[in-house]
Amino acid sequence: MIRVLVTAKNGQLGQCFQNLAPQYADIEFVFKTSSELDITNKAKIEGAFGSHSFDYCINCAAYTAVDKAEEAIELADKVNHIGAKLLAESCKKFNVTLIHVSTDFVFDGKATVPYLEGDITNPLGVYGKTKLKGEQAILKTLKHYFIIRTSWLYSEYGNNFLKTMLRLAEQRDELGVVGDQVGGPTYAKDLAEAILQIIELKTTHYGIYHYSNEGEISWYEFAKEIFRLSGSSVKLNKIETKDYPTPAIRPKYSILNTDKISRLLSIKIPNWKVSLEKVYSNLLKQKV
Ligand SMILES: NC(=O)c1ccc[n+]([C@@H]2O[C@H](COP(=O)([O-])OP(=O)(O)OC[C@H]3O[C@@H](n4cnc5c(N)ncnc54)[C@H](OP(=O)(O)O)[C@@H]3O)[C@@H](O)[C@H]2O)c1
Repeated sequence: MIRVLVTAKNGQLGQCFQNLAPQYADIEFVFKTSSELDITNKAKIEGAFGSHSFDYCINCAAYTAVDKAEEAIELADKVNHIGAKLLAESCKKFNVTLIHVSTDFVFDGKATVPYLEGDITNPLGVYGKTKLKGEQAILKTLKHYFIIRTSWLYSEYGNNFLKTMLRLAEQRDELGVVGDQVGGPTYAKDLAEAILQIIELKTTHYGIYHYSNEGEISWYEFAKEIFRLSGSSVKLNKIETKDYPTPAIRPKYSILNTDKISRLLSIKIPNWKVSLEKVYSNLLKQKV
């Protein structure tokens, strides 16, 4: 049996792991909510690590409110940086491999080709800066770690772009969505499956990896495909970032190059459209 501790079981990614867990008979999961295991509380972490002998810890916990983080700097740093550091220190102490999820927001979006794992980071906002500090703390502390950077996560769970678009389409006749930010939408369950494959491989190719669904699209194109699937009659307008000001600046281009994870760990990555259809159909089933 491989023993795995998963933090933040009620977050979007955490719920995807819970959903997948019954399919993995060779893995014994222990899921913790944010109140059962606050990753900024060293004593709680050590208590959790000491209660079992875990092989892996998957960290799904993060402060993810990108705009609010511009004001809540201390809290974002506490969770995304200090929380990651404390988890890494406990992983070292208890000989656990840490699988930490990070973000495309560690980059500034000025590239014109997909970002490689070793490319220079330069986060634009507080969220990205604190996530990068979390990565750096892990790198400093651990040898046995996987940092998986992902982008534009969505799923059947929590709040995300897909669910927001479906809700707004029911409330409005017309909608403006930015067409000049390009990225890779990623189904959180695809990411969770990739992480579980890494665990099952028992690979020692530790390091930073990029994972996002295949394809490059703008938020506008993502919304267009969502409305095509849902048959919505909402009028969709392509707008520019400058027409939709937000407290946090987003990278204009945040495509992650996923060759390393495919090549080194043989992870197969679905195309974004295929995964979107899957999630949409699951949401429809939930409605029935
Ligand atoms: N969402 C995206 O578009 C996106 C894109 C790129 C990368 N990522 C990364 O992907 C990972 C998963 O994101 P997600 O979409 O699943 O986020 P999410 O739905 O916002 O979930 C975050 C979870 O973290 C928990 N949490 C917050 N502070 C905590 C603490 N101190 N201790 C323990 N748990 C704490 C929250 O607890 P509560 O349940 O109490 O709220 C929540 O369950 C994160 O590392 C995120 O940075 C996300």
